Amino acid sequence: MPESDFILVQLSDTHLDLRKPEHRDRWHIIREAVRAQKPDLILVSGDISDDGMFDSSIFHANLEMLGEFDCPSYVVPGNHDIGNKIGVDDPVNMPIIEQWINAFGNDRFAVERDRWRFIGLNSQILGSGFPREDQQFAWLDQQLDAADAAQQNVVLCQHMPIYLNERDENVTSQSHYWIPSPESRDALLARADRPSVKLIMTGHVHWYRQTYDAHHNATCIWCPSSSGLVVTDDPFPPNGESVGFMTYHFSDSTFTYQKIELALEKQLIHFDATYKPRND
Ligand SMILES: [Fe+2]
Ligand SMILES: [Fe+2]
Repeated sequence: MPESDFILVQLSDTHLDLRKPEHRDRWHIIREAVRAQKPDLILVSGDISDDGMFDSSIFHANLEMLGEFDCPSYVVPGNHDIGNKIGVDDPVNMPIIEQWINAFGNDRFAVERDRWRFIGLNSQILGSGFPREDQQFAWLDQQLDAADAAQQNVVLCQHMPIYLNERDENVTSQSHYWIPSPESRDALLARADRPSVKLIMTGHVHWYRQTYDAHHNATCIWCPSSSGLVVTDDPFPPNGESVGFMTYHFSDSTFTYQKIELALEKQLIHFDATYKPRND
C-alpha cells in the first residue's frame, strides 16, 4: 500500500453508557471489530452517548472509550448527546454544548491527512440562531478555502443527513426530526456544493444508505448505528437494516468504502418521527 494511503473508520450512534454492564459488553464487540480494521483515523458522527443530553457526566467515559484505540479519533455531537434541533422536544441549548466541549474539547473538528481534509460539524445547532451557528459557518468557509488553497479534497462529517431523498425536498412533519430546517440545509448545501467536497458522512437515522449526489458530485453515506438498534421509519428507503459501521480506504484522489456488520443482536424499532405540535 503506498504511503499516502490510509484507513478511516466511521462509527456512529453507539449510544453507550459504560456504567451499564450490557453496554460494556457491546462496546467490547464494537472495539474489537474496529481494531480488526487497523484504522489510521476514527471519526464518530454523533450519538456516542446514552444519553448525555440528560446526564453529561457520562461524556468522560465516552471519551475514555475512544482512548482504547491506538489511532487518533474525533467526534461530533448528536441529538442524544446535546439535544434535538430547535423545534423538536428536548432541544439543544448552550449549557449542554458547553458540557460537551468541556469533555471533548470542541463540537467541531478539522483534520488533515495527506490530500484530504476532514471537517466535522455540529449539526444540532443548524437553524438554532445561536451565535455559535454563525461562527461555525464562518469557520467552515475558512476550512473550505484552506482546503482549496492546499488542493485538498474535503470530507464533511456530521450527525444529521443534510436531506433524506431530494436536496430541495419539503421538510415535512415526518422528516422534520431527521434533517435540518430548509434555510440551514440550503446554507450547508451551498458549502457542500464546492467541487472539493467529495464525501458527506452522516449518522442519526440508524439506517444504511449510499448515494451519489450528481449536483454536487459527492458521495453521501448514511452510516449504520453500532448500537444494535435499527430504526425503520417510513421515509427511509428499503434495505438499510444494518448494525455496524463504515470503513474507508483513502488514496490521493479517490476512496472506497465498505459496510462492516457487527455480531450484535439487531433490534428493529418502528419509529414514527411524525412531529406532533404540543398544545401545552
Ligand atoms: Fe442515534
Ligand atoms: Fe440521532
